Amino acid sequence: MPQKLALICEGGTELYVPSQSLEGTPPATHPVFFNPAAKTNRDISVALAAATGPKSFLDVLAGTGARGLRVAKESRRKTHVTLADFSTPSLAVTRRNVKRNQLLRRCTVVHEEANRYLTSRFERQEKFDAIDVDPFGSPAPFVQAATMAASDGGVVSMTATDAAVLCGVYPDVSFRRYGALAVRSEFVHETGLRILLGFAARMGGINDIGIEPIMAHSTLHYLRVFFRVKKGAAKADASVEALGYVTQCNGCNAREWGPSPIERCTSCGTRVRSNGPLWTGKIVDEEVVAGALGFTKEAGWKDAAETLAPLRGVDLFPPFSYSPERVCSRLKIPSVPVRSALEALTGTGFTAARQPFEENGIKTDAEYAEFVEAVRAASGTSA
Ligand SMILES: C[S@@+](CC[C@H](N)C(=O)[O-])C[C@H]1O[C@@H](n2cnc3c(N)ncnc32)[C@H](O)[C@@H]1O
Ligand SMILES: [Zn+2]
Repeated sequence: MPQKLALICEGGTELYVPSQSLEGTPPATHPVFFNPAAKTNRDISVALAAATGPKSFLDVLAGTGARGLRVAKESRRKTHVTLADFSTPSLAVTRRNVKRNQLLRRCTVVHEEANRYLTSRFERQEKFDAIDVDPFGSPAPFVQAATMAASDGGVVSMTATDAAVLCGVYPDVSFRRYGALAVRSEFVHETGLRILLGFAARMGGINDIGIEPIMAHSTLHYLRVFFRVKKGAAKADASVEALGYVTQCNGCNAREWGPSPIERCTSCGTRVRSNGPLWTGKIVDEEVVAGALGFTKEAGWKDAAETLAPLRGVDLFPPFSYSPERVCSRLKIPSVPVRSALEALTGTGFTAARQPFEENGIKTDAEYAEFVEAVRAASGTSA
């Protein structure tokens, strides 16, 4: 029996979606998947497309086509969008959505397995200027092919919903799936994002392709990264130079980062496990993020704007952060708002900003002990 559909409006695009997807959380994956809660995630894709202006965009795991169609309709660029999926029922909905939005001339619908479709582009001139990979779970199986099917300078974006793995809950699985160790720390989302980017750099590196990250964001349930693909051995070498390791010591809480993993904390000698290999380089293209932010503000997409705004300046800091909440609980002192800890740090000459990837975090050039002092000062307690 065909699935019951409902017509909704997301952004400026009308979409037929399975009626049941609007009722259950999380929505059913079969026969057709649509997640209304991913609206902000798709708003950001539209804004990034508006800021980068791809001529061609491939939504390679399209589902109902929501993301690709929104890019075609709302990014104010005349982007040609290809929507691919291996599910016949999903593509039936996608086709209806293309018609409904009068996008027949600017959209192509392809019934194909994602890797097979991506690899079919390797020998062709017409690669894609943007490719989005939005799977159930890990994007790892698609990353190498996506980097090869993108044009030089093209943008690859991907979602990972195996957030627990990338955030250090299952280190063995992160090692098997991403070839990188993810362990628990006070900055697990940033680490997960950097592991994804590091994985992309290594997958591209196999074929002499480098990456240049544009932006990254995360919620409790998923992680998402955007990067440009740069062809050539020199670009690939430069990317691999940005790989490294980040460690949080569970003894003294110091953080360290560098090109190699460490076995013992340099400050106190406690045995440690380093996160990585992961991307330690820049993760934000300030110009693109500023453009995308402007677009979200004009569109009135508050959540998307709030995701993008704190990314500015993030690359001025080392690839980790501190948590005032955790310091207060360790010291058994009343909790200190992030704002007060920030003021205490900047008041004593450190640079500091909110950690965009964690709920309650601060990025700063202060060492852990200096951070603790600032939190103490902010709480009005003394050592
Ligand atoms: C998470 S959904 C995509 C959601 C969509 N991007 C959106 O924003 O609504 C993943 C889709 O990938 C399709 N899919 C999963 N594995 C695939 C593969 N190997 N090749 C092609 N399609 C695949 C599924 O049929 C499903 O429609
Ligand atoms: Zn230590």
